[in-house]
Amino acid sequence: MERSFPKGFLWGAAGSAHQTEGNNVASDLWALENRPGTFFADRSGDACDSYHRWPEDLDIVRELGLNSYRFSLEWARIEPAEGRFSNAALAHYRRVIEGCLERGLTPVVTLHHFTSPLWFQQGGGWLSGEAVGRFRRYVRAVLPILGGVEWVCTINEPNLLAMMANLMRDKERTEGVAGAMPPPDQRTADALAAAHLAAREELAGLRSGWTIASQNFEAAEGAVAERDAWARPREDQFLEVAKDDDFVGVQAYTRVIIGKDGALPVPDEARRTLTGWEFHPAALGDAVRYTAARLPGVPILVTENGIATARDAERVEYTRGALAGLHEAMAEGADVRGYLHWSLLDNYEWGSYEPTFGLVSVDRETFQRTLKPSARWLGEIARSGRLD
Ligand code: FCB
Repeated sequence: MERSFPKGFLWGAAGSAHQTEGNNVASDLWALENRPGTFFADRSGDACDSYHRWPEDLDIVRELGLNSYRFSLEWARIEPAEGRFSNAALAHYRRVIEGCLERGLTPVVTLHHFTSPLWFQQGGGWLSGEAVGRFRRYVRAVLPILGGVEWVCTINEPNLLAMMANLMRDKERTEGVAGAMPPPDQRTADALAAAHLAAREELAGLRSGWTIASQNFEAAEGAVAERDAWARPREDQFLEVAKDDDFVGVQAYTRVIIGKDGALPVPDEARRTLTGWEFHPAALGDAVRYTAARLPGVPILVTENGIATARDAERVEYTRGALAGLHEAMAEGADVRGYLHWSLLDNYEWGSYEPTFGLVSVDRETFQRTLKPSARWLGEIARSGRLD
């Protein structure tokens, strides 16, 4: 069976600042990674050195035949001390945006991808009464460099951030899938929603939205009500915030089964990926259907989907299944504008370099990039617009 995707569909790969740039020293996460007795297995360190090697990364994206690149601006670099903005950092990100445009790549720019400046976190983080104003001021500062950018993601996975807020307070390492975490800290969730809406006000005229960690909560037998109650705080409330947005980002990897007493562990016999998540390519189509049903009229952009695996053939297998499911959801009526694979590079996976999501591997000492066969495979699909 051959499946065609619409003309103008965005085909791209994604990354985020902290995971790829290296030496994000003014951020809250850097402080956490480098404190004595840190619970992180690896520190981000130089990451992929993309702060310097971004032209090479963009060249790879273009040469593969992809037409889009998602990356994030790092608030901690742009405003390393409260109220002190770095013109050099802003100019840097302007060059990256222009680098995309010059290569014919549509930039998808995220303003906040998990990390915040350390001063922001020390000043109460999202729970400070000043958080929304602080975020708004940052958005105002970056607005002048966003010329030519059509897609702006305000905050990445606010639902995960709000769930992490509880966990971070306990200083625990998160294991397993996000969807199995305790419910979000509601005050953090509310602050993130307010920050998102404030950012959208500032961004008027640009297409903006936020990107949700879509968890595909499935009900175990007889547990539909429990599943619904589980999904409401963790996912649905964040989708509701997006009801008037220009688009919503869907980020799907796996599913979580909800029983009478909450999330069930991945069954022993299930096939797993390097993150321990269930290998479940249908996650993408299902997440798109779920999102489309709750946000009629809001265009969808798949801002993340991929797999942590050491076997690249498994990446192709997973992605082929995910794209088939995506095509099916679109045939049923979901308005999907593009697919951005997570990730372009094997990058820093929030505490460890072990789970390799990349289409491209990165030598940890020389930073040399090497394309994996999956990169060329996805590039071919992007060029032809067809999945065979
Ligand atoms: C998402 C994050 C992204 C990456 C993938 C695997 O939750 O947005 O940075 O870590 O998961």
